[in-house]
Amino acid sequence: MIDGPIVVELVDAQVVRPLRRAVLRPDQPEEHSVYPDDDDPRSAHGAVRLAPHDPVVHRDAPAGDVVAVGTVLLDPPPWDPARVDGWRIRGMATRDDARRRGIGGVMLDALLTHVAVHGGGLVWCNARTPAQGLYARAGFVTRGGVFDIPGIGPHIHMWRTIAVDHPPTVDHPPTDTRPLTDERGTGEPPSAN
Ligand SMILES: CC(C)(COP(=O)(O)OP(=O)(O)OC[C@H]1O[C@@H](n2cnc3c(N)ncnc32)[C@H](O)[C@@H]1OP(=O)(O)O)[C@@H](O)C(=O)NCCC(=O)NCCS
Repeated sequence: MIDGPIVVELVDAQVVRPLRRAVLRPDQPEEHSVYPDDDDPRSAHGAVRLAPHDPVVHRDAPAGDVVAVGTVLLDPPPWDPARVDGWRIRGMATRDDARRRGIGGVMLDALLTHVAVHGGGLVWCNARTPAQGLYARAGFVTRGGVFDIPGIGPHIHMWRTIAVDHPPTVDHPPTDTRPLTDERGTGEPPSAN
């Protein structure tokens, strides 16, 4: 899948913010790339670096540059605000010249492993619709319809459960057959990734 060695690390929030901003918020002020609870000790931030002999590194960047980032934070899903074991995936971003090599999937897997070893629970995200496949391959299912986040574009809620200390790749995706209601229930617009 990945045609060169990579290193996946858990890092501090300030390590992920530059790429988070460059990919997800390029036209917005720096503070818009700081998430509430970024610095909560229960949050996890992942960074992927390519090893020195990787062809992408040789072509475009010095060895060791961060080419992908992602974050998971304790945050209940908008449709179940009382859920204390709710975790939200945010800030998934792969540098454009390193995409479609499986790196995003590896990052997501690392974040789901963090959830598994920190009690498990329900993991959700506001997925940009073009990124739906990434989450679906990791066992997420959609909930509700597509909604627009102004200035960013169409999104859809996706979620799955993760068992405590259970490898994410063998956990079973949920089946959500409940009818749609006002899922956010807060009247607040959803925040983007
Ligand atoms: C979404 C994003 C993080 C995915 O990162 P990525 O590193 O490209 O992720 P992956 O490589 O694991 O998977 C992406 C695609 O590459 C494909 N892929 C994976 N390995 C591949 C390989 N070796 N060769 C070709 N394609 C491959 C996957 O099948 C997937 O295809 P799909 O999107 O059509 O389903 C990245 O595209 C990105 O930063 N996009 C802009 C920001 C964004 O939308 N973030 C998500 C917000 S919810």
